[in-house]
Amino acid sequence: MDVISVIRAKRDGKALTDEQIDWVIDAYTHGAVADEQMSALAMAILLNGMTRAEIARWTAAMIASGERMDFSTLTRPTADKHSTGGVGDKITLPLAPLVAACGAAVPQLSGRGLGHTGGTLDKLEAIPGWRATLTNSELLATLESAGAVICAAGDGLAPADKKLYALRDVTGTVESVPLIASSIMSKKIAEGTGSLVLDVKVGSGAFMKTLDDARELAATMVGLGNDNGVRTVALLTDMSTPLGRTAGNALEVRESLDVLAGGGPADVVELTLALAREMLTAAGLPDADPAKALADGSAMDHWRRMITAQGGDPDAPLPQARERHTVHAAASGTLARMDAYDVGLAAWRLGAGRAHKEDPVQAGAGVEMHAKPGDPVTEGQPLLTLHTDTPEKFPYALAALTGAYAIGGEAAPQRCIVLDRI
Ligand code: URA
Repeated sequence: MDVISVIRAKRDGKALTDEQIDWVIDAYTHGAVADEQMSALAMAILLNGMTRAEIARWTAAMIASGERMDFSTLTRPTADKHSTGGVGDKITLPLAPLVAACGAAVPQLSGRGLGHTGGTLDKLEAIPGWRATLTNSELLATLESAGAVICAAGDGLAPADKKLYALRDVTGTVESVPLIASSIMSKKIAEGTGSLVLDVKVGSGAFMKTLDDARELAATMVGLGNDNGVRTVALLTDMSTPLGRTAGNALEVRESLDVLAGGGPADVVELTLALAREMLTAAGLPDADPAKALADGSAMDHWRRMITAQGGDPDAPLPQARERHTVHAAASGTLARMDAYDVGLAAWRLGAGRAHKEDPVQAGAGVEMHAKPGDPVTEGQPLLTLHTDTPEKFPYALAALTGAYAIGGEAAPQRCIVLDRI
């Protein structure tokens, strides 16, 4: 087999054979296919697409490039959630202990933020002492004791994807349904969860800007999951405006704690409960009542156990940024919109996110929103507070926010958070 014939086949719009796919993924993982050759192939896939059979085989080859985890020793059914990424998307933080409190085991292998979207591990690392990296036996022990674990995926899980995703990130080949679906699902299937709920984001702050594109991605991933024995459903959810009132690491932990304490912003609570119900149904626990577990403190109890098991101090004060800058409303009226992408970009420029994989993030940096679309605002009231340790970043964050919001007579009609289910 030679790589140039594989690249040419996809460049010319042909479907790759099983043998070509198995060979190219294995050869790339072991260094026999060079990065420049794989990036040519990724671009050909982005431009010409893949059949369903090709996507299934590509996913299987990426799973086979590494180890598969096994949760069969657990007494509880496993349920996992994956979000395609958004701004202010702290849902995993309250959701994992909530679903654990309702009787499922939640192995939540998560990632770090890149670009304008935040990463779950960066948020949790704002908690003093908390560790993202666990051995497989620590992961299983935490699942047993706390019912939920949120940690980094080990290097052995789908190593082909690790290499390919880093390459796609720097070659303009991320936005391809076959490549995104196979990337996400190879990791989730290798992780060994029995059921999976996908939160596919749609809107300015998401990868998928339109409902049609999001539906195609969701249907492809749901098909891959179910064909591989993972009960999979997807919710398509709105990401035109940030979730909740904060975007930034410690700021989002604080907001998640409000939800676990029975309060918190209505949209975060609504989406957390919607995803919890889907996870519990997929795990065979349809009668569990997640609203009760939020209200009676059992979700908070599982949070405390989970954070403690991973070295964190659930009672330690969360870090705060050294400097703040408040933006005031220039007029009175209704907040008509608050754009997710622009707020995410501002939080990133303030230091909440990273430009390169190895960059550090600031725990306290981010954007706090004092109003949500549809809220009445009065001229001169605080609208946004920017937080950072590096105040020289304020002008860049403010520039990102110039067109982010509008105050008008009428708010755009309120969009439901859950737009569709597949
Ligand atoms: N997340 C992933 O894990 N892979 C992608 O390709 C896109 C988002």
